Amino acid sequence: MQRRTVQSPTISSVRRVIHRADDPRIYRQPQNHDVARRPFLLTAIVGASPNFVKMAPILEEAGRRSAFQYRLIHTGQHYSPEMSATFFDELGMPAADLNLEIGSGSHTAQAAAVMLRLETELNDRRPDVVLVVGDVNSTMAGALVASKLGIPVAHIEAGLRSFDRRMPEETNRLVTDVLSDYLFASEPSGVANLLAEGIPKEKIFFVGNVMIDTLMKFRDKAAQTGVLDRLGLNSRNYAVATLHRPSNVDGMEHLASLVNMLKELSRHLPVVFPVHPRTRERMQGAGLTECGLILTEPLGYLEFLRLTSEARLVLTDSGGIQEETTILQVACLTMRENTERPITIEQGTNRLVGTDPKKMLHAALDTLNAPPQSLAPPEFWDGKASARILDVLENAIFKSSN
Ligand code: UD1
Repeated sequence: MQRRTVQSPTISSVRRVIHRADDPRIYRQPQNHDVARRPFLLTAIVGASPNFVKMAPILEEAGRRSAFQYRLIHTGQHYSPEMSATFFDELGMPAADLNLEIGSGSHTAQAAAVMLRLETELNDRRPDVVLVVGDVNSTMAGALVASKLGIPVAHIEAGLRSFDRRMPEETNRLVTDVLSDYLFASEPSGVANLLAEGIPKEKIFFVGNVMIDTLMKFRDKAAQTGVLDRLGLNSRNYAVATLHRPSNVDGMEHLASLVNMLKELSRHLPVVFPVHPRTRERMQGAGLTECGLILTEPLGYLEFLRLTSEARLVLTDSGGIQEETTILQVACLTMRENTERPITIEQGTNRLVGTDPKKMLHAALDTLNAPPQSLAPPEFWDGKASARILDVLENAIFKSSN
C-alpha cells in the first residue's frame, strides 16, 4: 500500500484541484430545486472514514430539500481504497466535488495542509454554512478556516468530551466547538459539557446520532454480506477487536501485551481483528502478525457492520463502535481509561476496561458469561438525527430571510 505524506501545496497545485467558478458542479442542485428562492449553500467537509458514515445521511437529507444546495469536500486525510472509496461506494455518497489530497503526516502538517488548500475553496465559493463532523484533524482544520473567513460553522457531534487532553481528538473537539455557530449534540452529556464551557444555549441543538441514521439505513443490506462465511465464523460465536489509538498502538510493549491478551481470549472463541493501517505498521515492525488471531485488512462499512452485529463480544478503542454496539445490543469492552460517550455506558452495552491487559481479559471472560443488555436506545438515536439537523438549518434560513 502506498503511503502518502503531506507536502506544502504550491499556489499552482492548489489551483489545479479547485474547480473553476463556472463549473456546473459548484453546488449540487437537489431534485426538487425551488428556483424562486435562493438556496442555502452548504459546504460539507469530510476527511476520515468515520466522517463519511456521519456525513452520508446529512447529504442525503439535504439532497431531498429544495432549501439546500451542497458541495462536498474530501480533505484526503484517509485515501486508501478501503479507508475511503469503499465507504463512499457503500454509503451511496456522491463523489467529492474536490479532494484536497492532504494524505498522512503529523497533526500539524495535516491541519496546515487542509487550512491552506481549503482557504482558497471557501473564499471562492462563500457558502452560507460549513458542515464539519466528529473530531478528526480535518474537522478542526475545516472549522478554523471557515471561522477565520467569517463563514458560520455547524459541528455535528458537538460537546463530546473525554477530559483527556492527551487524546488528539479532544483538542480537535474543543477547538471545533468553540468556533462553531451551530452545535449539534448526539447525547445529553454533549449539551451539558457545552453549557459548562459557556457556549450560549441558543447555539446548542440536541438532535441525536447521525451515525445511527446510517446504521439503521444499512443494517439489512449489511446482513447480506458474506463476511462471516468468508472468515469461517459462526454467528454469535466470535469476538471482534479493533485498535488504532496512538495510546494503544504506538508503544511496542503495550501493543504486544494487548495482542497477547487477544491471543489468550482466542483460546475461548475466535477473535477477528480488522487491522487499521497505523496498527498494521506497528504490528509488522514488532513482528506481531503471527498471533493466532484472524487478521484482516480494514473492512468496508457493510462488512464491518455485519461482523459487529453478530459478534458475541467487541473489544475496541474506537469511539463510534461504542455507539453502534449499544444499538446492536452487542457487548462492548472499550480498551481505554475514559470515554467521551458516557451514554453508551449508562444506557448501552459498553464497559470501560482500561488499558491493563490482565484486567481486560478478565472482563472479557466475565462478559462472555454475563453479557450486558442496553436499557433503552439513547434518546434521538432513532434514524432521524439528520432530518433534525436540516430542520434547524432550514429554520435559521427562514428567520434570517424574514
Ligand atoms: C484518524 C483520526 C481518529 C479516527 C481515525 C479513524 C485524527 C487525529 N485521528 O486516525 O480520530 O478515529 O482516523 O480511522 O484525526 N493510513 C493509511 N491509509 C489511509 C489513512 C491512513 O495507510 O487512508 C495510515 C498512514 O500510515 C497514517 C496512519 O494510517 O500515517 C494514520 O492515519 P491518520 O489519518 O493520521 O490517523 P488515524 O490513526 O487514521
